[in-house]
Amino acid sequence: MGLLLPLVLCALAVGSGATSPPQQVFNPSPLLSRGCNDSDVLSFANFVLRDINRDRKDGYVLSLNRVSDVREHRQDGPAAVYYLTLDVLETDCHVLSRKPWKNCGGRALHELVYGQCKALFYMHKTARILHTLSYNCTLRPVSRRSIHQICPDCPSPIDLSDSKVLEAATESLAKYNRESASKQYSLVKVTRASTQWVVGPSYFVEYLIKEAPCTKSQASSCTHQSPDSEPVGLCQGSRIQAPGETFVSVTCKFFESQAPDPGSENSAVNQGPAHLPKVEESQQKQAAPTDAPATAVPKGTVQYLPDIDDEKPRSVASLLIEPMESVPVGAIPVHLDLTRNPQGDTLDISFLFMGPERKTVLVLPFPSKEQRSAECPGPAQQENPRVLPP
Ligand SMILES: *[C@@H]1O[C@H](CO)[C@@H](O)[C@H](O)[C@H]1NC(C)=O
Ligand SMILES: *[C@@H]1O[C@H](CO)[C@@H](O)[C@H](O)[C@H]1NC(C)=O
Repeated sequence: MGLLLPLVLCALAVGSGATSPPQQVFNPSPLLSRGCNDSDVLSFANFVLRDINRDRKDGYVLSLNRVSDVREHRQDGPAAVYYLTLDVLETDCHVLSRKPWKNCGGRALHELVYGQCKALFYMHKTARILHTLSYNCTLRPVSRRSIHQICPDCPSPIDLSDSKVLEAATESLAKYNRESASKQYSLVKVTRASTQWVVGPSYFVEYLIKEAPCTKSQASSCTHQSPDSEPVGLCQGSRIQAPGETFVSVTCKFFESQAPDPGSENSAVNQGPAHLPKVEESQQKQAAPTDAPATAVPKGTVQYLPDIDDEKPRSVASLLIEPMESVPVGAIPVHLDLTRNPQGDTLDISFLFMGPERKTVLVLPFPSKEQRSAECPGPAQQENPRVLPP
């Protein structure tokens, strides 16, 4: 009591000394600026991208081109929510390879697919929790028109369902199977295709393969009752037509982290939560709660837009702001609207913690591009304006 009174008096003195009472009108955004090249921000971006890639079943692993924007929202305790906008590029690894994006190769400009992801990322320092709350990404190929400007002879994309594409895939896989010692593979689907005039019409394809039910020696007695086997690898093939001759090539890369065979001694272990993410990259694993089963439900989507050249009719507005000779870079709209309430909404994240008590975070509407942090965007791996979302 003896201590309290002076404190109260002191508070009163400060209060009466202030020139004007705090006003509701001045309500600064609780979203703090952060640097897009800060090392912790980059590691959060890396973590988010790993989560996004791990969530996906289709497409190629996304790599970080640059952090476009970041905002920090401090929460109760040593915790914060980050609003991340990431400019991304497709790599040459299929997502089913489960390779970390840093181990994947880039693409040549004429093959590039670029885009942007927005993500909400939660970090709790003392509980050692790093968690992607939600994300959404939009991707689009580099426009054919802009590739043509710099590389008129580059291969151009072609519809995956074109019969010539299927023919190139089938013939290159047949070559692989002929040269394979015993195991045989069958085509799952074509994932990428392009065409070019070399010495005749040429087709370049990438496709997923799975194990065929029979080996080479069984081929004659094989009944084609293929179980629903998973894709085991990604092949690159080509079929180059020359006068009087056809050249076929193939190389296949097999995915390393395959789930154990059903029926093997490990299968009992797999009876657990069905959607638990596969355990790899163990050195990057964070505290156990991060991988609670509830985190494995997809928390976002990756959306593909067509080449901007195919988006007809072009709006008058886009023609007006885009001079004829400029590089056409398609807009990349990404929406991540967990709330529209300017005061924010709370999100239950109790599942991230061990204890029984209810834990929440306050989530605000995603900040707009106009409110970008001062030290943003960060440096890009690929500075080419053709792959940087406007
Ligand atoms: C993510 O994007 C999709 C497609 O644009 C949209 O329908 C969905 O509402 C978005 N998710 C969030 C949380 O905003
Ligand atoms: C980004 O950070 C790295 C390492 O801290 C530094 O070497 C580099 O110069 C920074 N780049 C920019 C553009 O600030």
